[in-house]
Amino acid sequence: MLPSPYGHFQNAGRAFRITDPQTPTPWTNVVCNGRYGFIVSQSGGGFSWLDNSQLNVLTRWDMDLIRDAQGKFLYLADLDDDTVWSLAPMPCRTPYQTYACEHTLGATTFLASYAGIRWSWQMSVAPEDPVELWRVLLTNESDRPRRLRIASAFEWCCGVAPDVKREFHKLFITTEHDRERDAIIATKNMWDVPAKHRRDHWNQPWPYAAAHAVSCTAFERKYATADKASFLGRAADPTAPAWLRSPSDGRFGRFLDDMASLGGDLSIEPGESVELHYVLTVAETPDAALALVDRYRLPETAREAAAASTGMWDRLVRPDAVHTSEPAFNALVGAWLPYQAVAARLWGRVGYYQQSGAYGYRDQLQDSQVWLPIEPDRCRDQILLHAAHQFAEGRVYHWWHPLTEQGLETECSDDYLWLPFVCASYIRETGDLSILDETAPYVDEAREATIAEHCERSIAKALDRLGQNELPRIGTCDWNDGLSGVGVEEKGESVWLAFFLADILREWSRITGLQGKGDRAGEILAAREQLLKAANTTAWDGRWFRRAITDDGEWLGSADCSEGSIYLNPQTWAILTDGAPEDRLRTAWDSVREHLLREMGPLLLYPAYTEPRTDIGYITRYSPGSRENGGVYMHAAVWALAAACKRGDTEAVRRIWRAIAPPIRSTENPDGYAAEPYVTPGNVDGPLSDTPGRAGWTWYTGSAAWLYRVCLERVLGLRADWDGLRIDPCVFPELGEIRVKRRWRGRTIDMHLDATDAKAGVEPRVMVDGRHLEGNLLREQAYPEGATLQVHLTWSSPEVRRVRPTAAERSVS
Ligand code: GLC
Repeated sequence: MLPSPYGHFQNAGRAFRITDPQTPTPWTNVVCNGRYGFIVSQSGGGFSWLDNSQLNVLTRWDMDLIRDAQGKFLYLADLDDDTVWSLAPMPCRTPYQTYACEHTLGATTFLASYAGIRWSWQMSVAPEDPVELWRVLLTNESDRPRRLRIASAFEWCCGVAPDVKREFHKLFITTEHDRERDAIIATKNMWDVPAKHRRDHWNQPWPYAAAHAVSCTAFERKYATADKASFLGRAADPTAPAWLRSPSDGRFGRFLDDMASLGGDLSIEPGESVELHYVLTVAETPDAALALVDRYRLPETAREAAAASTGMWDRLVRPDAVHTSEPAFNALVGAWLPYQAVAARLWGRVGYYQQSGAYGYRDQLQDSQVWLPIEPDRCRDQILLHAAHQFAEGRVYHWWHPLTEQGLETECSDDYLWLPFVCASYIRETGDLSILDETAPYVDEAREATIAEHCERSIAKALDRLGQNELPRIGTCDWNDGLSGVGVEEKGESVWLAFFLADILREWSRITGLQGKGDRAGEILAAREQLLKAANTTAWDGRWFRRAITDDGEWLGSADCSEGSIYLNPQTWAILTDGAPEDRLRTAWDSVREHLLREMGPLLLYPAYTEPRTDIGYITRYSPGSRENGGVYMHAAVWALAAACKRGDTEAVRRIWRAIAPPIRSTENPDGYAAEPYVTPGNVDGPLSDTPGRAGWTWYTGSAAWLYRVCLERVLGLRADWDGLRIDPCVFPELGEIRVKRRWRGRTIDMHLDATDAKAGVEPRVMVDGRHLEGNLLREQAYPEGATLQVHLTWSSPEVRRVRPTAAERSVS
């Protein structure tokens, strides 16, 4: 499926098989069980962590996307002719006879052959324990008996990464060899994380023990060492470690530059295979780590755990959830988007472009929306977690680190609003108002406050922070982190934030109404009207909404600006929240189409800034066309897709989808696009860049959860609403025959439609279990819990009900 010179999708889009290791950028996979995880590239680069991919990193890695040279490696040597090669391309860059690297949901497998030996090396994580499993199968395809030596090799980090104080930190690591178990244990009696108490500064142990072990019944001799110097030898050449030629007695202890290498010698007859199991694990004590080694080094357990990992992902990301005639859509919406959002964003909080480990206040809250149609309770948990990182005054940490609870306090102006936003999405989905009575403490007040109070404080904080134009003050940034200079004096205001806040107020008035607090609901709606009035009075530029006004009173995002004259977010959010009269929304959308919708996707702004401007912020310091500075910022591009659906502009929906969908972009221009075809990038370079259309910052981007949500709710049109499930698709012809299964409030919706039958602007006729539904709202009460509802949509029936104007018609009216 969707082949390119570098590989193709398979298994109905759930796997991507890379067939040329020289991909334009590292094409990686993130595998994580919620606690333990690893990232691995098609070259074999990458690293492993527990709970925090920055503060608690097990193995060393170097963020160098060109060389991609550091990872966890396996070497093989032929003892008869002294050839040495590696089982993944790095570090030897062996010219394999055959090569494939298959990334799937929950595992990566290298399948290759060289010098008459064929192998598969599968890497996965046990679903229930902090254990990384490598299953290696070596087959002798030559016609002579082979004597081989295998050795694993990686460097211990055991703490914070990147480690800029390597020579200092290594002094605190101890390694031991457990001969009986063929295991190496690493501990470290210092952990260089921010001290909670004065006495803790550089004076606390790394509170874990890591272990690496191997089991193979075919070993004739075994080797182990933890000493990088003697492993590599004086030449320190990672392509030909001295150890592979002449392993000596291993070295362990306290005086080394620490690594782990385990392996041995084995013979394989022609046509025969040998199986090995490697384990990497971490636990609170050496004994606990060894207990995990004992359990998972058993081949049977290791095999079962690897299969259970696939099973876990099949349960979370069901293979039968989305089927259309567009393979790229199936691969993304049916598999990789929810996988990316969960494995990399919510659990690993990591990508090759950002080793974060922290929770971004707004980031992981937005990501947790991916759970709504899957397991909404997990979104609920995320809401409670973030509520506990709010200060009593309403502001929140911009981000904080789990494990140390160290956080960044800023004057950012939208972070705290994502709490009521996501809480409202959760209540829409589940109808579960009880979340409002759950409690969480404030960072600076031990008392528990209800989630309703937390959300009210966020809203009150935002409404207290209006500026001279009655728009919300932007502070040191709003959603756009790079607008960091606009409001440092706490005078600048944000138009996007006005629309975003207005949207939350509409949701919150609904929630307070449901709670029976009619008066409060009225007040909230009045505040919304005020905000929209202010935005429409001061920020309408004639053809579109402006973006912000600086401390010095200069408007950004206006036709009068020579750079940054139109921004995307104020237009899309005005549309999403019905924040202006129809003629303005139409004009604003037309302007988006005219100025921002480009072949690489919807630009965040145009034209890009070419000179740094302190009064605007670091966005202007990026090269023109990159990231927030006039590139396609994927997170916001997805909101443009949502806005196109809301406008009923099927043509734009199709265009935006085809412009941003990585499988399509990568197939059309694999070298120019450069990034992985199976996950979303954070950004794609815009027209003023030297490399327009080039994608980067894959995996660690908030666009994955949003694209999943928008495709499900707006393109396929199954959208949770206050009174029920709204069925309101905005499909384009390439989607063809569509079948979607979605869970909703204990029911399963099984929807069928033919996108080629859909007529722009015409609402479909909805049949539920063979009966015609009046309107397009499924009401919960009408269907028993546990029921599967067969929903069919048709447009061809003569009884088509209502006609809504198409975008084209609207623009002439
Ligand atoms: C980054 C940040 C996110 C922010 C976005 C836009 O992705 O993590 O929080 O909203 O950039 O600046």
